[in-house]
Amino acid sequence: MSLKKDKFSIRDKLYMNIAINLATIQKGKTGENPYVGCVVTKNNQIISYGSTQTNGRPHAEVDALKKINFRAKGSTVYLTLEPCTHYGKTPPCVNVLIKSKVKKVIYSINDQDKRTFNKAIKFLRSKKIDTSKGLLSNKASKLYNHYNYAKKNKIPYIIGKLACSKDYKFLYNNTLITNEHSRKVSHLLRYQNQAILTSYKVINSDNPKLTCRLNGLEQFSPIILIIDRDLKVNANSYIFKNKKALNKIIFYNSNNLKKINKVKKLKKVKMIKVDFDKKYNLDLNKLLKKIYSLSIYSVIVECGKELTSKMITNKLFNEFYLFKSEKNFRLVRDNVLSIIKKLNKNFKKKMFVDTYLDKNVLIKYF
Ligand SMILES: NC(=O)c1ccc[n+]([C@@H]2O[C@H](COP(=O)([O-])OP(=O)(O)OC[C@H]3O[C@@H](n4cnc5c(N)ncnc54)[C@H](OP(=O)(O)O)[C@@H]3O)[C@@H](O)[C@H]2O)c1
Repeated sequence: MSLKKDKFSIRDKLYMNIAINLATIQKGKTGENPYVGCVVTKNNQIISYGSTQTNGRPHAEVDALKKINFRAKGSTVYLTLEPCTHYGKTPPCVNVLIKSKVKKVIYSINDQDKRTFNKAIKFLRSKKIDTSKGLLSNKASKLYNHYNYAKKNKIPYIIGKLACSKDYKFLYNNTLITNEHSRKVSHLLRYQNQAILTSYKVINSDNPKLTCRLNGLEQFSPIILIIDRDLKVNANSYIFKNKKALNKIIFYNSNNLKKINKVKKLKKVKMIKVDFDKKYNLDLNKLLKKIYSLSIYSVIVECGKELTSKMITNKLFNEFYLFKSEKNFRLVRDNVLSIIKKLNKNFKKKMFVDTYLDKNVLIKYF
């Protein structure tokens, strides 16, 4: 047992745990902003609480303090993440804490955004606000896995996903391989990530919707990113014709003006030219950097076998989900065995995800 004195009390831990829960609930809803939880206490009682709201506005501190008209004299504020010190789309949250006359701020971990990183503690202390950090930092760090990875590496956190039959067959043309429970988990992954990356081949062969179709969460469907080197995507696909069209970004490398102008006219489409690699494919590393530059920090990849396989070989996935059906499709020839071999080689850990999927199985590689 460690005899090192813990500077935080049991009450501090309780309040920070509540803040962590408040943050967790917002996962998937806050866009490019990290989901933060905030608890405001005074005389050992919670006087307000808040979290980062839809699309990141307002921030957690403002959400909580606004509820008490920014009157928080003598209070202690618990935050899962360092309060921002920079002017972004909103003024710095440290100003709101000062304006509200809080007495003490305890936050869990530093914000990896360079504009704020490790600056809040000094700033708040200079304004005579007793500030400390590190409370339940291991637990809070897990919340910001994706965000921290993206900010540190300047590429998004990438999650892969593939479905196969019981006998490891890979099916083409939008055949339903897995059951409704597995599909719900897939939709949850779509909801939790800012963008979904696919290929023009999948759009053309499956005509997918690529939305999150979980009750009440439809508005949090991801931005659609399409790899389409030669601009071959079918302009009549659902994603372009649907009335509630989602934003789409097409990554290409072509000088064919006729094709460029045709794609330009499609609804809610942005086109981004990406350099070729040595094999005249789009350079996937550069592509990821471009995605990051658009403030997209988490991506779920739903491509076919070829691109998925390339991305595993290039070690571009941070985690991978393999859904396995209980059904066999004996007449199908193509299988995912080479992909599974690569997954086993490239990832240190694999686990069976303990969630109800009836007879389907979900394996997570990480
Ligand atoms: N079982 C599942 O979980 C699942 C999930 C999604 C889709 N699918 C199925 O998968 C099928 C499509 O699979 P697929 O293997 O044919 O296609 P894919 O892997 O989705 O895409 C292959 C295409 O991507 C392009 N490509 C490959 N490497 C690239 C790179 N480095 N940069 C840029 N472009 C690159 C090439 O386009 P060019 O032609 O321009 O060279 C290639 O033809 C669909 O029929 C769909 O039904 C299954």
